[in-house]
Amino acid sequence: MKKLVAANWKMNGEGSWSTKPAALASLLGDNMPENVQVLFCPPAVYLDRIATEAGKFGMNAGAQNCHASASGAFTGEISAQMAADCGADYVICGHSERRALFGETDAVVRAKADAVIAAGLSAIICVGETLAYRESGEAEATVEMQLKGSIPTTSTALNTVIAYEPVWAIGTGKTATLDDIEQMHGHIRKVYGQLLGDKSAGKLRIQYGGSVKPANAKEILSAKGVDGALVGGASLKMEDFAKIILAG
Ligand code: PGA
Repeated sequence: MKKLVAANWKMNGEGSWSTKPAALASLLGDNMPENVQVLFCPPAVYLDRIATEAGKFGMNAGAQNCHASASGAFTGEISAQMAADCGADYVICGHSERRALFGETDAVVRAKADAVIAAGLSAIICVGETLAYRESGEAEATVEMQLKGSIPTTSTALNTVIAYEPVWAIGTGKTATLDDIEQMHGHIRKVYGQLLGDKSAGKLRIQYGGSVKPANAKEILSAKGVDGALVGGASLKMEDFAKIILAG
């Protein structure tokens, strides 16, 4: 099972960034770890060209979001099939920014993940507690509720990745302690096993996200139960992203 190290570019980038997969490949050279799978998730308008470029170097591309419907009168939206058509292999579902800024509920996230899986892609379903829930000792309960509400019945360890991203760690420079990360990843695996059967849970990839950077990548990616990272800010510069991948 390869570790999935993903770049979430959010609403950043421009057309000229299509050279970034090549730049990354040349920074990695012969040192590309065999146990790491690299994924670029650019803004949807660049998905097609980033997928083409990433594919040249054995890397994958994914969308940051999609609509739950296959097509229709949803101005401004894209479907999972369209992401697939552009060369995506993954779609991020329910990122905390989508949940907080665009009102996505667990039910919406589940419908999107279901559509992603139906389109033959893998869903990266994001969960994570706010600081208030962490401080009141309800982090695990919050994440468990999100998992139960957001994972569709069509999910298997082969078509689903869970990204654990504590909301308070995203873009803040703060990271959860290794103990907290390992404990939460263990909890996520347990809950997933309860939902879908233990056999599947052992193979589920669980990424950590939230201020992953070159300085902390090694210890996070080596932590028990961590099968990759979802990287925001540090994925915008290929020098930093390469260091994170090399730590995998
Ligand atoms: P960050 O973002 O690495 O900038 O904290 C992570 C994410 O939002 O996926």
